[in-house]
Amino acid sequence: MTILDNKNKTNPIAFFDSGVGGLTVMNKVKKILPCENYLYYGDTLHMPYGEKSKEQLLKYSEAIFEFFAQKGAKAVVMACNTTSSVIYEDVKNKYNFKLYPIVQSVSEILSKLPIERIGIFATRATIESGAYQREIFKYNPSMKVFGQHCPDWVHIVEENLLKDKKSIATVKADLDRMLKNNPEKIVLGCTHYPFLADILSEFAPRDMFIDPAVDFAEFIKKDLSNANLLNDTEQTYEEFFVSSNPKQFKIASEMFYKLEKEPNLLIFE
Ligand code: DGL
Repeated sequence: MTILDNKNKTNPIAFFDSGVGGLTVMNKVKKILPCENYLYYGDTLHMPYGEKSKEQLLKYSEAIFEFFAQKGAKAVVMACNTTSSVIYEDVKNKYNFKLYPIVQSVSEILSKLPIERIGIFATRATIESGAYQREIFKYNPSMKVFGQHCPDWVHIVEENLLKDKKSIATVKADLDRMLKNNPEKIVLGCTHYPFLADILSEFAPRDMFIDPAVDFAEFIKKDLSNANLLNDTEQTYEEFFVSSNPKQFKIASEMFYKLEKEPNLLIFE
């Protein structure tokens, strides 16, 4: 483990996910914190994270954390519900940067919604971990939480198959299954899923779906501000890295993020 002084305002905020999904989070953070420096790592080689074991997720994440530490990140955003759900507890005290896990950071806000039944769409690993259920229960034991794994959605987003008839039918079938529980709201509990918001809202009211990244971004801003770590310089930079196929990453990200050039290829051994 590397111990560095990463508590400098001008140091970057780093994001990671298995692919383009974390861009839905970074996009929202950038909107409210435009004067920050940003790093992004998409672990496309190991995607989908939602089908990986805890040991695998720990191995991938620790290599990424180490890289971010070396790059001087002042904060690392776990812009991935799967790693937040499965490994956050194991890594939370290991690093010298601020660490923000999406699930744990937004569950209190979700638990206070004036509703009784909430659905969670997420990866297999997130659903099997029970993290959303557990975290919401801490603040509101009477809220009924219905978790549902959507096995094809990450692939649809990463392969840019959003306009495909088969993809639309798959998303609709998964939504129909969830709607049988009569949820009042449904959380898009995987950072890839907001890419599917247009398809989902063809079949249910758009305001039924919650992208937790909105509250997550506010949470991060508030916490960095409280720690006096917000940057105020106007010259900023952003750097993107992926572990495979930079070209596909740029194409798939288009809807949420206009990358000026393809990300750098960086594989950890
Ligand atoms: N986007 C990630 C999440 O929020 C992981 C998706 C995957 O690779 O399975 O869970």
